[in-house]
Amino acid sequence: SGPGVKVDVHVKPGDAQRALRAEVLEGLCRGPKELSPKWLYDERGSQLFDDITRLPEYYPTRREREILRAHADDVARLSGADTLVELGSGTSEKTRLLLDAMDAAGQLQRFVPFDVSEAFLRKAAENLSREYPRITVHAVVGDFEQHLGRIPGGGRRLVAFLGGTIGNLKPAQRALFLRELASGLKPGDGLLLGTDLIKDRERLFAAYNDSAGVTADFNRNVLRVLNRELKADFDPEAFEHLAPFDEANKWIEMRLISRKAQSVWLADLGRRVDFAEGECLRTEVSCKFCREQVQAELSDAGLDLAAWWTDADGDFALSLAMK
Ligand code: AVJ
Repeated sequence: SGPGVKVDVHVKPGDAQRALRAEVLEGLCRGPKELSPKWLYDERGSQLFDDITRLPEYYPTRREREILRAHADDVARLSGADTLVELGSGTSEKTRLLLDAMDAAGQLQRFVPFDVSEAFLRKAAENLSREYPRITVHAVVGDFEQHLGRIPGGGRRLVAFLGGTIGNLKPAQRALFLRELASGLKPGDGLLLGTDLIKDRERLFAAYNDSAGVTADFNRNVLRVLNRELKADFDPEAFEHLAPFDEANKWIEMRLISRKAQSVWLADLGRRVDFAEGECLRTEVSCKFCREQVQAELSDAGLDLAAWWTDADGDFALSLAMK
């Protein structure tokens, strides 16, 4: 057998529960109601997101895969990396495209999948170690807003943050995230960043308001998460899904809109939360970019844009930035 698998755990099972309680007190019990998108991804939510990626209206996943198929070898060559660090999912076909290109270039030594779910990550790490027996798989269980400093050093690293997930961070959070990430990199290390691009409003809207209602179900799933984790009594069907494009902020905003005046009991918090008819709960923003914006944000973090690739229609972009 090869160099094998190592798993570092920086997130304990109880951490998520505690964070959720704190966030619900902050985000539901006062002000304009808002929850962070990370609560959308329990097992059912992750499955629903996977279903979203196959919807005809949801183009980002296919576009990004298309760009990677065309340019994975350029990424390997230009980055010169021997270590691939992947923030977020570590089982996707996209990961393999990058690993295969680095392997073909004779560079690949180590894969560092970084994810918040320990069970998921362990399985992914074992599978990848079996598929790439000559490399070290060093998995890190962490939250990318807290544990970037725990990414193992050494070698020449390429950090991949794909899917457009960076768009789920608002500009201020994004600046902090990029600065924190860049500060952990050494000269010669790189970042491969996937970003969804600004395009006509109709296509953006359709991608987040699909005709089959899968995104609506995905959005409402957060209420099922609250019911289970906080012993709440939300009726998911009493909320309508709407995800408009905010032209000023250049982001899609997922909302759950209360269909009626209603009151929800959160037993574990000993609190009641009231909703007026038509009141919004914001569950996600998904920022859309242009090249100048991405380049400026990378540059502010101390990273230089080395390459910019889009699909043929200019729907989605992959940026390679170097420290
Ligand atoms: C995986 C976070 C990038 O923002 O497009 C899909 C999540 N939300 N449909 C996105 C999502 C609604 C997705 N990201």
